[in-house]
Amino acid sequence: MTGDEGLTTPTEPSDGPTIGRLSDEVTEDGVFQAVLDGYDAVYDALARSATFNRIWRTHAYGGEFPAEFAHIGFLTLDEGRWMLDALHLGEGDTLVDVACGAGGPGLWAAQQSGAALVGVDPSAAGIAAARQRAGHVGLEERSRFDQGTFEQTGLPDRSADAAMSIEAFQYAPDKWAALGELFRVLRPGGRLALVCFEVDPAKAEGLPVLGVDPVPDYAPLLDSAGFTVETYEETPGWEERVYGAFEAVVDAADTLREEMGERAAAGAIAEAMLTVTMKAQPRRVLAVAPRPARQRRDLGS
Ligand SMILES: C[S@@+](CC[C@H](N)C(=O)[O-])C[C@H]1O[C@@H](n2cnc3c(N)ncnc32)[C@H](O)[C@@H]1O
Repeated sequence: MTGDEGLTTPTEPSDGPTIGRLSDEVTEDGVFQAVLDGYDAVYDALARSATFNRIWRTHAYGGEFPAEFAHIGFLTLDEGRWMLDALHLGEGDTLVDVACGAGGPGLWAAQQSGAALVGVDPSAAGIAAARQRAGHVGLEERSRFDQGTFEQTGLPDRSADAAMSIEAFQYAPDKWAALGELFRVLRPGGRLALVCFEVDPAKAEGLPVLGVDPVPDYAPLLDSAGFTVETYEETPGWEERVYGAFEAVVDAADTLREEMGERAAAGAIAEAMLTVTMKAQPRRVLAVAPRPARQRRDLGS
């Protein structure tokens, strides 16, 4: 599949999966309402959908990622190790995972490094699932999960030694504000790893959510926001996993509706659909950008 066959944009559902209408409405603390609703439903239903979990594990991120840290992104174990290496985390450090969802990758990073974890996500259901998982993996003493967004994490200035975000930055309605918040929360010299999709503005024009603040290359934005971009790379083999997961989710749509319920299945399909819509600019990247020790730019200028 090339990614162009038989697909429609999220506003134009056809005979294929019904994903409902997405709108660009943003909540007061800075998250697209439609995205939030979809993820809430998905996290609520995750525990009862063996099919979704199997599909995602098989197609999206591969069976090597430890099952107890299963997640709903595309992060493979190799990519996780790459990211962890880049974050230079040590025991006693504080790691912030923004858009942590059900907590899998952040808890895995905390377990591997000995760091304490603060997970932030707007989804109440995601936060609840993350807290439960922390208990299951014995990390409840070293982790905390709070509701918040990229733009309003609710965390104190300079409180994090490192920050990560997996498969979510493309959803920030205001990337500039989001990077300002990450800069504020990181201590000088703290390190940031983003794994996210680039979105080509020309191709995302008119699309809900993705069309609002599309960024085709995060490197200049990171640089302007005061970070020093150390690594900016396309993640290997991502396309096959994205399209594979999409196809499998669409094929299993009826089963997903039965297991997860209509709303959560629509959320899962919408997520897969939105991601495939990003075929418009097919690049999933990992960016590592430390915050310089002394430099603080005026983010407003
Ligand atoms: C694809 S999931 C990834 C979750 C997790 N990082 C993982 O890898 O499993 C995207 C996450 O982004 C969160 N999200 C969406 N918009 C956000 C925003 N504006 N600020 C912070 N998180 C957001 C969603 O609630 C969801 O949990």
